Amino acid sequence: MSDNLNSVFGNVHLGYIVIETEKFDDWKRFGRDAIGMHVDDLAHDAMRFRLDANECRMLLRRGPAEDVIALGWQIDHHATFDEITRRVADHGVPSTKGSDDDAKLRGVERFLRFPGPNGLTQEIYTTARTAPMPLNIPSSGFVTGDGGLGHVALTTKNPYLVRGYFDHVFDARLSDYIDETINGLKLKIRFLRVNERHHSVAIASVNTLPVNPIRTRVQHVNVQMATLDDMVDSYQRVTRLGFDMALSVGQHTNDKELSYYALTPSGFEWEVGWNPIVVDESTWQPTTHQGISIWGHTPEGQTVVDKLRQFAIAARSLTHRENAVTPLAEPPIYDD
Ligand SMILES: [Fe+2]
Repeated sequence: MSDNLNSVFGNVHLGYIVIETEKFDDWKRFGRDAIGMHVDDLAHDAMRFRLDANECRMLLRRGPAEDVIALGWQIDHHATFDEITRRVADHGVPSTKGSDDDAKLRGVERFLRFPGPNGLTQEIYTTARTAPMPLNIPSSGFVTGDGGLGHVALTTKNPYLVRGYFDHVFDARLSDYIDETINGLKLKIRFLRVNERHHSVAIASVNTLPVNPIRTRVQHVNVQMATLDDMVDSYQRVTRLGFDMALSVGQHTNDKELSYYALTPSGFEWEVGWNPIVVDESTWQPTTHQGISIWGHTPEGQTVVDKLRQFAIAARSLTHRENAVTPLAEPPIYDD
């Protein structure tokens, strides 16, 4: 953990994600009708979801990736923005200013982009635009604020480098570890926070496997609903509309969030949660939990054959890159 004078911890918030997909109709049904997010059609090749007053929390662009391709981080102050920019430059990693059109699509004044782990472009900005129209959603709302839009989970064969990256760039702190066994395979998951949200990035290490079994850059995206009823209602809409459930409702061991995981039209998962704990920096101590769930989160409709097929897809996949942006990722010595 870089606990230096120029630490940017606490001033970084997951602001938006960019998804590339050809399946706009399916995504509209999934995002609006099932999950219950506000949708805005912009053009033939751009659609957005809102969770709150911000114009954009998810930008969908037309393209073949069927994946999350970029993470946008809201940075609180210009000095913090400059500090992060300097870190990227000092490590010899190129960054580019986003075009005015791209900034407009993302609902931000301006932004800077630079490469990140798993081929996930990282984008930073200071000012989000808010929408004049109220949300048109079937629930009481989503929890965003200082904790950002939710979190993302990645799988990697280079967990130290991915952790090192978020440590170097955003002063991410380790919240805890989970040791999980799936189909006899041991996984270690590292949970990193950059603000009061228990984690903005989870890193599942698959370094004991010959290939990363997850085709997509992001294994799941998480959003947090305001009430338990909101979460249960969305679960019922997902099921009723025929979208596949990946994991039924359950409760996580570490952040205690109650959640379910639905399968998105692009093939990665979408976790809808409620009531995760908020980290108190004055008392928090990282620990290791055994298993991701206290109860529930049972796989639905997924057989061992499906799991094996996933490995085959990953092995064939030429697009999956594990580029860890090594100059920015060289890790200090971690305990684990
Ligand atoms: Fe999650």
